[in-house]
Formats: sequence, C-alpha cells, structure tokens
Amino acid sequence: MTAVLSLKNVSFQVGEKVLIDRVSFDVQEGSCLCIVGPSGSGKSTLIRLFNRLNVKTSGDIFYRDHPIEFYPVSELRHRIAMVFQRTSVFPGSVADNLKMALQFRSKEKVADDDPRFVSALNHSGLASSYLSENAELLSGGEQQRMGIARALVTDPHVLCLDEPTSALDVEAAHQVVNTIKSLRDKMTVVMVNHRLEEVEEVATHVAMIDAGKIVEIGTVDEFFHHPKTDRLKAFLAAYRRQGGSE
Ligand SMILES: Nc1ncnc2c1ncn2[C@@H]1O[C@H](COP(=O)(O)OP(=O)(O)OP(=O)(O)O)[C@@H](O)[C@H]1O
Ligand SMILES: [Mg+2]
Repeated sequence: MTAVLSLKNVSFQVGEKVLIDRVSFDVQEGSCLCIVGPSGSGKSTLIRLFNRLNVKTSGDIFYRDHPIEFYPVSELRHRIAMVFQRTSVFPGSVADNLKMALQFRSKEKVADDDPRFVSALNHSGLASSYLSENAELLSGGEQQRMGIARALVTDPHVLCLDEPTSALDVEAAHQVVNTIKSLRDKMTVVMVNHRLEEVEEVATHVAMIDAGKIVEIGTVDEFFHHPKTDRLKAFLAAYRRQGGSE
C-alpha cells in the first residue's frame, strides 16, 4: 500500500485557538477515506490543509513522499482538488464553467469543445448534452455534479469533497453518492460527510475527528462494527438513536 497523503503530527492554530491538534494518519492510494465528527470538530479545517487552503502551523504533510511545500501551490491544488458543500456557479454554460477551471489552473488556451469536458461530465454522472445548459439554472444536485466535473476536468489525483450531499434532497444526494462511488476506482477520494449511511456505502476507511483530534481511524468495517474507543461508540450510538447526526 502506498500513502498518497501522509500527515505527521500536524497542528493548525489561529491565534491561541488550536483547531487541529497533532494529527497523524495516511491516506492510501486508491482508498476512499471518509472523515466524520460533530459539527465544529475541525473536519473542513483538516482537509483544507491538504492543498494549502489552510497552512499548517506545525508538523509535516507529505504528498507522494514530498512535503506539500515542495509543490507550487497551483500544481498542488490541481492534483488535490476540492469540492465544497455548495458549488460556486459562474454565469454561463456548463462548458464555460469547465473551461474556466482548466484555464484557471494552467493558463492554457482551451477550445470550447475540449474533449476533457465530456469525459469529466460523464464521470460525474451528467450526460454530455449538459455542456450547453445554463449552469445557473441547473438543480442543486446537477450543480453539485457539475462541481465534481469541474474538479475532475484537471485530472486530479486526489479528490476531496466537503459534505457534497448535505445541501441536497435524498434523491439528489443518492445520485451524487453514486457518482462518488463510480470515481473510487479512478482516484483517491477523501470525503467529509455527516450522513453515516452514505459513509458506510462509499468509504474504504473512516476517521472520526473531535475537537481537532483524531479519535479513531480504521477500515469501514472496523469503524462501524468494531469501534475501540468509548467516544466513537457513543457517537455511533447517538447517530443510530436519532436517525441523524449526533
Ligand atoms: N480561519 C479560522 N479562524 C478561526 N477559527 C476558525 C477558522 N476556521 C475554522 N475555525 C473554527 O474551527 C472550528 C472547526 O471548524 P470546521 O469548519 O473545521 O468544523 P467542521 O467539523 O467542518 O464543522 P461542520 O460539520 O459544521 O462543517 C470551528 O469552531 C470554527 O469556527
Ligand atoms: Mg465543515
């Protein structure tokens, strides 16, 4: 197993406030690591450290055996792409939105019918006929899949998704989950998600974070069926009791 990302004793602090506290773990090549934990525990803050949207205060983060500082930021963000809870949509067609992502990353001249558009759309579960659609008029679920396509168009190595389904209804969320499942064979995926049934469906590994610390990390089976810590046991029990997040 090869670690694509490796965190060693990583902390992130803003003023006196320690948001990420001495976190260490590896993300294995081809795995789908889901990160769960209570609201405000540091999940978004943590994944934003991977491509320097947040800059760690101490410790080391390695991407493919090099410290992330070794890579130019634009290259790092191209290789480690992020999809957020709500996709920002730029005025224009879906093709315009995808084109912008390519131009933004590499400043290259991109044709209006670049073949990478169709490939990215198809991998994100949208038909190529969407290319000419007005992006601002798409449904929430379609916009989210366009956001995934926009991340995929630059051919990232690691796709990080921060609660990609939380703003969607059940059906749209299901489509996005299926999209993510179909991507697992093609790239390494890290996803923050508070819907544990979705986590159980897509994850190969799961980590729980609480107050900026890793509580427990393991395979999906270990995590859900053989939790070791009282904290994780309580988290899972509370989730099951409420039929929702803790
Ligand atoms: N740049 C920052 N400066 C100061 N505080 C911050 C900053 N970024 C995040 N925080 C704080 O860090 C804590 C963790 O935030 P974070 O957004 O990572 O939580 P989360 O686990 O993603 O929560 P949620 O499930 O609600 O999205 C919060 O208390 C938040 O207010
Ligand atoms: Mg968050």
